[in-house]
Amino acid sequence: MAKIATRFTERLGLEVPILGFSHSVDVTAAITKAGGMGVYGIAHDAPDKIPGKIAAVREQIGGQPFAIDIMIPKGMPEAETLESVRANLPPDHVKYVDSLAEKYQVPAATKKTFFNSILRTPSYFEGQLQALLNSDVDVVAFGIGLTADAVNRLKAEGKVVGALIGNPRHFKAYQNIGLDFIVAQGSEAGGHTGTIGTMVLVPEIVQIVGDLPVLAAGGIGHGSQIAAALAMGAQGVWLGTTWLSTEEHARGDHAIGDKLRDKLFTAGSGDTGITHGSSGKPQRQIRSAWTEEWAAPTAPRPLPMPYQHTLVGDLLTSIDEHEVDPMLHTPAGQGVTWSKERQSVAQVIKTLSEQTLEGLERARKLAR
Ligand SMILES: Cc1cc2nc3c(=O)[nH]c(=O)nc-3n(C[C@H](O)[C@H](O)[C@H](O)COP(=O)(O)O)c2cc1C
Repeated sequence: MAKIATRFTERLGLEVPILGFSHSVDVTAAITKAGGMGVYGIAHDAPDKIPGKIAAVREQIGGQPFAIDIMIPKGMPEAETLESVRANLPPDHVKYVDSLAEKYQVPAATKKTFFNSILRTPSYFEGQLQALLNSDVDVVAFGIGLTADAVNRLKAEGKVVGALIGNPRHFKAYQNIGLDFIVAQGSEAGGHTGTIGTMVLVPEIVQIVGDLPVLAAGGIGHGSQIAAALAMGAQGVWLGTTWLSTEEHARGDHAIGDKLRDKLFTAGSGDTGITHGSSGKPQRQIRSAWTEEWAAPTAPRPLPMPYQHTLVGDLLTSIDEHEVDPMLHTPAGQGVTWSKERQSVAQVIKTLSEQTLEGLERARKLAR
């Protein structure tokens, strides 16, 4: 495979300018093994589980580089517990969620997951951060939110530290705290997302960040888009949706089952939508009865994070556990249109790299 090099990939020792976000240990490891960099998302992992997850990635990749993504959203309650939040949920909201369970005949959840057993609080985040400080992970990226203190502590441990942003306004808040890279994530992205498209956001961020490397994210699932991102000044790309339908994602804690995989394969670029119904913040998901029900005129206005998540935690867990159609869904971006068959991560990276080279060559031939 031909090498595609930028300043950022050279610094991290990558063969291709592709970073891949995943909640799956096996996907994370496979991305690094294929010459990119796997980024393991710890949002769903309690602090005591994190060392085991990092060790499981290391076991597969040895000393090669990988990253962790952590979310530290602002304004989470310190003094509350899951029980106190549950006890004070607005009755009309609870009634609505019960009515959805009844309408779609969702059996009770038997599993304990992040959604029904954890409350996002500052001490939860501090525990996660501590686990990263004590680890040998090479790179840390902040998803939603960060603090200068957290960045400083990670940098003092020698970590390369970056942050995802969806709006130039976010960079103004982050510019003096010593970040090593920025991920400019456009609205097309799966997961929590903003309103500015990748094609607009990436060159805008490249222009304002000076020497900081920028990675492009949001809707990218074809190598011609990677070539375009590099042409816009990005030093790499950061993909999430692409990995959901890979062979490696069919196993492990966050395994994607056959029903969900088939939804991903049949979805086109117009089949995702944004809902506040899962976490309380805007999240792009594959469109389903879940997104429709939270957009219905009869639906109550979703609660803010972390209360919405507590409200729907049991229902989300059981929809996943029992693969309840038509409610079954996952965060996914508009680039889901490129997911058409189950492949290994290595095959996906090979195809993306070839398409990138073709795209770069196609553009180069235009120059007179
Ligand atoms: C299933 C899924 C879960 C995600 N969870 C997180 C997360 O916990 N933290 C985070 O920073 N980004 C998360 N993201 C967003 C990714 O980091 C990435 O920015 C995004 O997927 C890029 O756009 P794409 O999905 O179009 O490739 C998630 C994305 C997906 C698809």
